[in-house]
Amino acid sequence: VKTCTTVAETRIALAGAPRPVGFFPTMGALHDGHATVMRRCRAECATAVASVFVNPTQFGPAEDLAKYPRDLAADERLLSGIGVDLLFAPSAREMYPDGPGATIDIGPLATLYEGASRPGHFAGVCTVVLKLFHIVAPNRAYFARKDAQQLAVIRRMARDLDVDLEIVAAETVRDADGLALSSRNAHLGPEDRARAVGLSHGLFRGRSAWEAGERDPARLVEAARDPALDYDYLACVDPATLAAPGPAGPALLIAAVRVGGIRLIDNVFLDLGERA
Ligand code: PAF
Repeated sequence: VKTCTTVAETRIALAGAPRPVGFFPTMGALHDGHATVMRRCRAECATAVASVFVNPTQFGPAEDLAKYPRDLAADERLLSGIGVDLLFAPSAREMYPDGPGATIDIGPLATLYEGASRPGHFAGVCTVVLKLFHIVAPNRAYFARKDAQQLAVIRRMARDLDVDLEIVAAETVRDADGLALSSRNAHLGPEDRARAVGLSHGLFRGRSAWEAGERDPARLVEAARDPALDYDYLACVDPATLAAPGPAGPALLIAAVRVGGIRLIDNVFLDLGERA
């Protein structure tokens, strides 16, 4: 993979690149979940581009930006193995040379759930993602379904601001026991790891209830709750607006928990169209 660290270099390297250009923005510490998304981007696009940037503006003051795992050499090896054409890996100074400035506010969607627990988080995400879109100019951008609200927020931003590209939602990759892959899983001790899987198993129970015909959001949430876990939120929502789901679906069960000081999120899609 060719690694570029400046905006100017990246623009030159991608000028005239075969299209479609596919782009997967990440914060690095790449694991099998990222690799699955990246392979899909590689398979579907003539040019495959990734970015690794631990974006300071999406971390709250109490969140540990300094402790976020960083291993660019390992990320480059993984991306090279997949045949990725270009990696954009800028410094914070390169991305924000003049310090804090313009930010993207997409409205109330950014204040619900993750946004309520992490004020300002989605302004930071939208701002950096829009900057990355302007730098890479992709035709398709890939986002993980695991970060369901991030996906909804980015789709909304793209629609509201007429961003001319296709947002592709990539399926959640799970460990054999069901736990969604996340760089945060590495911080879980064995006991917490065993408790954490209750998050995903609960959501699967909610999905089974849906498949058995349950449509009442409150009952679906009850079916999904693991009494041993400390939930930040557990809700049944419309996947695009995160408001109450319509009777015709689709819906999303979303949850965030804290296990041993680690915050984990997961979700399952409830699709009436497929299973009605
Ligand atoms: O999902 C992430 O890793 C980040 O939020 C993203 C989209 C790379 C923006 O910094």
